[in-house]
Amino acid sequence: MSQPELEAIHRAPSFSLIIFGASGDLAYRKLLPALFTLACNDLLPENYVLLGAARTPYTDDAFRDHIRQGVEEFGRIKPDECDRWQEFASRLYYQHIQYDERADFQTLKQRLEELEKAHQTAPNRLFYLAIPPSIYPVVVENLGEVDFAQEQEGHFARLIVEKPFGTDYNSAFALNQHIHRYFREDQVYRIDHYLGKETVQNLLVFRFANAIFEPLWNRHYIDHVQISVLESVAVGKRGGYYDQAGVMRDMFQNHLMQLISLTAMEPPNEWDATQLRDEKVKVLRAVRPPRDGALRTNTVRAQYRSTDGSGPTYRLEPGVDPHSETPTYAALTLYIDNWRWKGVPFYLRSGKALAAKTTEIYVQFKEVPHLLFEAQGVDLAPNALSICLQPHEGFHLRFQTKVPGAGMRTQDVDMRFNFATTFGDKSLPEAYERLLLDAVLGDASLFSREDEILVSWQIIDAILQGWERGDGPPLTFYEPGSWGPITAHNMLAVWGRSWSVDCFKSEGAKTVG
Ligand SMILES: NC(=O)c1ccc[n+]([C@@H]2O[C@H](COP(=O)([O-])OP(=O)(O)OC[C@H]3O[C@@H](n4cnc5c(N)ncnc54)[C@H](OP(=O)(O)O)[C@@H]3O)[C@@H](O)[C@H]2O)c1
Repeated sequence: MSQPELEAIHRAPSFSLIIFGASGDLAYRKLLPALFTLACNDLLPENYVLLGAARTPYTDDAFRDHIRQGVEEFGRIKPDECDRWQEFASRLYYQHIQYDERADFQTLKQRLEELEKAHQTAPNRLFYLAIPPSIYPVVVENLGEVDFAQEQEGHFARLIVEKPFGTDYNSAFALNQHIHRYFREDQVYRIDHYLGKETVQNLLVFRFANAIFEPLWNRHYIDHVQISVLESVAVGKRGGYYDQAGVMRDMFQNHLMQLISLTAMEPPNEWDATQLRDEKVKVLRAVRPPRDGALRTNTVRAQYRSTDGSGPTYRLEPGVDPHSETPTYAALTLYIDNWRWKGVPFYLRSGKALAAKTTEIYVQFKEVPHLLFEAQGVDLAPNALSICLQPHEGFHLRFQTKVPGAGMRTQDVDMRFNFATTFGDKSLPEAYERLLLDAVLGDASLFSREDEILVSWQIIDAILQGWERGDGPPLTFYEPGSWGPITAHNMLAVWGRSWSVDCFKSEGAKTVG
């Protein structure tokens, strides 16, 4: 972190973070470990209070012990790797509440005011909804009704909302309306933790702080773009939730829409939350979802199914309807109707129970216009840039080079940049570290704005509704542990293209239908 950034943090006002659902998985694995790392790295203001709130009956001490275990297990910095644990724990409290009891919110308010006094923190408050989305409305209402959304003169009250934000356009619209009964839009920080990842932010630096790529970043030089977010885990215990959501709501509406907008957006004038989000929304508005006949050719929906019973089968997972049509995998061809991207296919895919956990943005450039070396029987692979988010974070650039020796033999080689190698293994902050810090500092650049969420739901809804009408392709199946269904392979193969797995080259992975 640069000196001016550090100084900004140290000038940041004292604050309180109130985590609803503090007994849960997210708080245990992500939020409190991230906060502890920030504290160890001297990235929190001098005075702060962390107050967990949930139904599980913890005392303050029992909650601290529980969180210590989480930090030990999941923290980037462990309690015994930094001398701040005692101080951190002394700022950590727990309040037992029922989410639908207004009186409990009054008690929470009194408790918070006492803690603010004891720790000399100003009434700058962040309310984090780390709870299932079904109870967002009641918590927001209770926060609003006890005046937690009111900002005191010169201070702030912010609401941090986890994903998923709605299950379609209408529910997201209604949730926004409900939140806005109490909180202004600029008080709302909607999380998509992908935006907290270094590589995602670096995509913008890569595009807009280097002169050599941006002139090529358009329909004249780019053949196509692929965005793959692949998971190796199956649905497991999340069947009840997943069968309602499916891969389109679980992954496409948020992560894939974020990645496409950052890859395709125009440069904003400056690094500013409004400008950045204006440009992202502009791109999403230009995305043309496949309709009618194009739904069959340009979309794929599939489920994992083990043919010999040696792996998991989606329809046999607990909580899943045995006749479920919910896709665990989808692939889309999308076009962006603007001057920069007209005619360039963006291929998106995501799924569960695949060969590897890997996330990649792959940009394939056009072939050279005239093949000088064709006479020697050389088939040149076009230039390609792979932006890897997982399993490692970095970039690969593929280009041609001459093989040493007589003749004119060429070979494609890979120029690699790996964050961990260059900056050290420990240098990559967890996404939640960055996002929590930004929320404290009031920088909303990496959070989704209301209109961004709504436009992405419009794209996803159009596809899901088409599928429900029966205009889509039939549901196909893929083997768990494969790279996905043959139908997704075919969607690219008809154009002579194939999916890239540059960021994760795995031997023996099979593509089966
Ligand atoms: N876990 C992750 O890695 C992750 C990643 C991305 C997004 N998220 C999002 O973050 C939020 C929290 O996730 P999580 O994994 O921490 O969830 P969780 O563990 O299932 O739930 C968090 C807490 O909410 C309370 N709760 C659970 N079900 C409830 C219900 N039906 N009614 C009332 N209270 C209930 C429980 O606390 P009490 O019983 O003590 O009140 C639980 O400890 C969700 O919106 C999720 O989608 C999570």
